Amino acid sequence: MSAPIVFSGIQPTGRKHLGNYIGAIRQYVSGQDRGQPAIFCIVDLHALSVAYDPAELRERVHDTTAILLAAGLDPERCILFRQSDVREHTELTWLLSAVTSHGDLDRMTQFKEKTGAARELASAALFYYPVLMAADVLAYKATEVPVGDDQRQHVELMREVARRFNGRFGETLVVPELIVPTVGARIMDLQEPERKMSTTASTEAGTVFVLDEPAAIRKKLGSAVTDSGREVRRAPEKAGVTNLIDVLAVARGVGPEAIEAEFEGAGYGDFKKAVAEGVVELLAPVRERYAELRPDEAALEATLAAGAEKARALAAPTLAEVRQRMGLGPA
Ligand code: TYM
Repeated sequence: MSAPIVFSGIQPTGRKHLGNYIGAIRQYVSGQDRGQPAIFCIVDLHALSVAYDPAELRERVHDTTAILLAAGLDPERCILFRQSDVREHTELTWLLSAVTSHGDLDRMTQFKEKTGAARELASAALFYYPVLMAADVLAYKATEVPVGDDQRQHVELMREVARRFNGRFGETLVVPELIVPTVGARIMDLQEPERKMSTTASTEAGTVFVLDEPAAIRKKLGSAVTDSGREVRRAPEKAGVTNLIDVLAVARGVGPEAIEAEFEGAGYGDFKKAVAEGVVELLAPVRERYAELRPDEAALEATLAAGAEKARALAAPTLAEVRQRMGLGPA
């Protein structure tokens, strides 16, 4: 089998949290050695779909770039770039919208969740978001898309869009595979463990940020919601404890069973202390490296520019092929 082409995207909005780190960023770092190439995109165009401040957006792109580098992405071994630097993404979005139905987009649960009752006021960009996401991946003929569980439906849609394009215009695009981690695909809010940890919908106390100081991490994990029982084991009715088991399993690089075995008979207090130390050890090197990298904005821009050049070289031939197939331009 030929080497996979790995592609994933991350929004430059808000502060990156433990869910992003465990569900996605960790997979990018392991994916960069498998992917030939491995391509990671900071999706600033997606960030325009909700209210935002232009100056702040630029800052957040630099923050996110520095976090990804601090977490272990190496521009020598992967392609790291800013979405808006590669115009092929926007052009392909329009072209793919010809094989995407209104009904497909209407079914997207994330759109419904994000807009709620204010649907009429949501931007058309938010509605179109999954088409841009399909273009991101299909422009590179990527074979693998590492994401957290919440992106499952969007990846299903891009697979369908690729199949439909090929059915209508001839075999051109590659149908990518969804890659979600077996443990940690859905990290939950520490205060409300029925809800996923998220930039917009979570509680501050229930969200561990990648750049949190150790004291803040210990405080948040110390007050994490558990249940009235005393057993450290995974169960549907033990959402808080299950989440903490998954977090510690990932932090230690072991399976969740090993954590259950280790803490059999231990109280929640000792268990939560161990989770806190595990998370501190997981995130401390990232925070320290970030502090070194973030101030040098010229270097961050140089990395993004070099990445964009490589990305363009890969996306342009796909666009030429798609245009040709669709009857655009001269024959
Ligand atoms: P974004 O920026 O919201 O999230 C980035 C990645 O983090 C994962 N994630 C989580 N994983 C586990 N537990 C959680 N609580 C959690 N919260 C977030 C997300 O699944 C994601 O992988 N639409 C995408 C960005 C995107 C993209 C793409 C992804 C744009 N184009 C093409 C893949 C391919 C998004 O908003 O992710």
